[in-house]
Amino acid sequence: MKTHSIALIPGDGIGRDVTAAAWTVLETVAKHSGFALTGTELPWSCRFFKETGRMMPEDGIETLRRFDAILLGAVGWPTEVPDSVSLHGLLLPIRKAFVQYANIRPHRLLPGVRGPLRAESFDILCIRENTEGEYSGAGGRVHQGTLDEVAVETSIFTRAGVERILRFGFEQARARRGRLASVTKSNAQKYSMVFWDEITRKLAADYPDVDVDVTSYHVDALAARMIMDPQSLDVVVASNLFGDILTDIGAAIQGGLGYAASANINPDRSAPSMFEPVHGSAPDIAHLGIANPIAAIWSGAMMLEHLGEKDAAGRVMNAIEATTARGVGTTAGKDRTDAITSAVVAALT
Ligand code: IPM
Ligand code: MN
Repeated sequence: MKTHSIALIPGDGIGRDVTAAAWTVLETVAKHSGFALTGTELPWSCRFFKETGRMMPEDGIETLRRFDAILLGAVGWPTEVPDSVSLHGLLLPIRKAFVQYANIRPHRLLPGVRGPLRAESFDILCIRENTEGEYSGAGGRVHQGTLDEVAVETSIFTRAGVERILRFGFEQARARRGRLASVTKSNAQKYSMVFWDEITRKLAADYPDVDVDVTSYHVDALAARMIMDPQSLDVVVASNLFGDILTDIGAAIQGGLGYAASANINPDRSAPSMFEPVHGSAPDIAHLGIANPIAAIWSGAMMLEHLGEKDAAGRVMNAIEATTARGVGTTAGKDRTDAITSAVVAALT
């Protein structure tokens, strides 16, 4: 039997609850679909940091490299460990070390979920550059603590990095409805974003055979469009920071962070990809058993898809949709994590 070995990093707060929920659903669908999943839980988290002084062991990346994929819950416990330490010690190094340059975030309304907009249906696929740009981590501070203090944080856009993410977007648009929104801010950022626009135009010329209709939008205008006219959008490709912000808007318009799934993909498959809900660890509701596991379960479906288990991925999505269509998991705080998970499991066919 085909077996996929998965590293489970529940992390902190509600990450633990939703990862357990997603794993229950994934193990069940595997049984129905004739393949096996083995899960190896790694306790890397802020608690692990408090015990060991590190978010993951020194050889953590090498340990993870042996798995077929990583399922992650959430990282962060800001009253105990500063976010700048916890994220730079676990989540961000994994995305970079494994060249998970495409962060894919689907934004659409599940049946039965009411979003805040008038629009009743939209289907946006945000593709966020995930390894460089504004979050490259290049910079420094001088004269720290004095009135002369200076902080510099440099965005890094490489030709290879920009080309590969835009190309990924073109490929997705070609496979979907043929519309690509390239997110820029070249009216204000005259180096990096002018470069981004040039590469968008150059690649568009590479796709003459396909009907990909490319529009460049300034990020501010696109933010407004996601709210005023989300139906007009198909694939959206953005840099790391712009994509980070736009995908929280995407989560909001799809009903909230409890529904926003994501995949950190290494398209070359030279290292494992990682799947995680967009939401954080929500320490305020951790261990109350009321976190919505749908974003994590949906991320699990994206993992199955990436592993080549398309049929099982489709079953999980159908089960999620059957669950929300019945009104389970559609109102914040109404259904407990366990009840939503059981409903999804019961809906698996
Ligand atoms: C996300 C998160 C992370 C990011 C943070 C926690 C570093 O906001 O996945 O969107 O910005 O990448
Ligand atoms: Mn974010």
